[in-house]
Amino acid sequence: MFERPPFLVDDVDTPALREAISLMSRAGYCEIAVRERLGLHDITDLHWRSLPIYRDERLTERDPLALAIELFLLQGSIAVDDAERLLPSASREVLLRTKLLEIDEAGGMRARASLFPVGERLIFADHAWPELPYPGYAKVPYDHVMAIGLDSRHLARVTIRRPVRSALDLCTGSGIHALLAAAHAQRVIAVDINPRAINCTRFNASALGAANLQVIAGDLFGPIGDERFDLITANPPFVPSPVNALGFRDGGPSGEDIQKRIVAGLPQHLEPGGMAQIVTELGEREGEPLTSRLREWLAGAPMDIYVLRVASHSAAQYAVGHASGGDYGSFLDSARAWAGNLRAQRYARVISVLIAFQWSSPDCGPPWDRTDESRPPQRSAGPEIEDTFRAERLARNPKLSRYLEGGRVHTAGPIALLDASVLGEAIPPKAKATRLGQALSIEHRLEPLERQILARMEGCEVTELFRFGRELGAEEGVVIEAIRSLLRRRLVWIDVPRE
Ligand SMILES: C[S@@+](CC[C@H](N)C(=O)[O-])C[C@H]1O[C@@H](n2cnc3c(N)ncnc32)[C@H](O)[C@@H]1O
Repeated sequence: MFERPPFLVDDVDTPALREAISLMSRAGYCEIAVRERLGLHDITDLHWRSLPIYRDERLTERDPLALAIELFLLQGSIAVDDAERLLPSASREVLLRTKLLEIDEAGGMRARASLFPVGERLIFADHAWPELPYPGYAKVPYDHVMAIGLDSRHLARVTIRRPVRSALDLCTGSGIHALLAAAHAQRVIAVDINPRAINCTRFNASALGAANLQVIAGDLFGPIGDERFDLITANPPFVPSPVNALGFRDGGPSGEDIQKRIVAGLPQHLEPGGMAQIVTELGEREGEPLTSRLREWLAGAPMDIYVLRVASHSAAQYAVGHASGGDYGSFLDSARAWAGNLRAQRYARVISVLIAFQWSSPDCGPPWDRTDESRPPQRSAGPEIEDTFRAERLARNPKLSRYLEGGRVHTAGPIALLDASVLGEAIPPKAKATRLGQALSIEHRLEPLERQILARMEGCEVTELFRFGRELGAEEGVVIEAIRSLLRRRLVWIDVPRE
């Protein structure tokens, strides 16, 4: 069995640890450089199956960046003289003393935990592939600290990054979201139930000098009393699982054991004007919208909900993807257990979602929810999430018709119009519009009038759109509804008078 570091801060020579990490940064070890060096489209494409190819094709030049990638990301061993080139003796010593590095059986140097690049930051967590060369988590201890994974990065990318007073990160694991929030929140609290995760987050906070981050062991909102926060983030264990083998992964047979309690706790802990953002997976049943479950968990609390669907896995794909076993027979047993559990839950598929919650504004009618589909964002999408809330509220504002009187409508930015016409048929083309240059890639279906208005306008007077509508046989009210619908989807914007 592999050894894992204890992530204890107490005896660490913090300046020496910070110097070792800053040396890695100076060697160019950051998200963009790793992506480019390994030839990845996005760092989330990093995969254990490609390890031999990265080594044979991308890391043949053994410069410090290649050595850092090999040692801290690919879980490989480097020769001691290479380690000496990468890290001076004081840095090697502090990493050996904290058990982050070890000398392996072959006399090379190997890391016992990974150092994940997240933008320019470097964050320690347990390895992504703890059982290499065998993939999976069959023998991994329950308290494994989750590596910075796909879901961690997706949540980090959609999280709002404007200055806030207070932030809470539940299910913090390595502390990634708390550490990122520490750069724009005056005060951050990180909570996890796993003592190793608590140690790991404290270790990272100390290594990165995040003095405004308080790390607390406990069960979800349990340790924080009735305090409210401007920003709440959570990446809970969400996997609908027939086993309870991994604390960071298994969310009970439905997958909802933890996520349900987080959503239920938001009304007691989100400040007015605050934003809660969760990455999770939800099992989807035929004919049952996912948002109805979220509403049920909120128990009537008036919150607006924005759901971004970023991936969908059929129940069969999902079961096979999670099955594990040392030989083919036990793999099949495991796949059957996973598939049987999803069948028992009546899940047709499992959807990866990024969900944002805000308190509803009573001026804009009843609480709303909205679902869009996007590819997962590859860069920061926080402002787009906030704009969606703003746009949805403006579109629902009863004063909208008044704002439109004598006002102007602008396209919200460069937009690609996608028309699917049936050649030779006299039917209106089926159209979609997508905003270019956005981190979220959402294709909005357009009604014929919406398409015509969008194609016609460029900083248009609303009265001109009314005239245009009349030419097409549409009343003013119908044109206003079309503008409202374009506004909701952030395809157009209007000048709102100051009141
Ligand atoms: C999916 S991991 C997320 C880790 C990290 N936030 C990230 O995004 O990479 C889920 C984390 O939730 C923690 N957890 C599980 N149950 C919990 C509970 N009841 N209260 C607090 N944390 C919990 C696990 O220990 C684990 O660290």
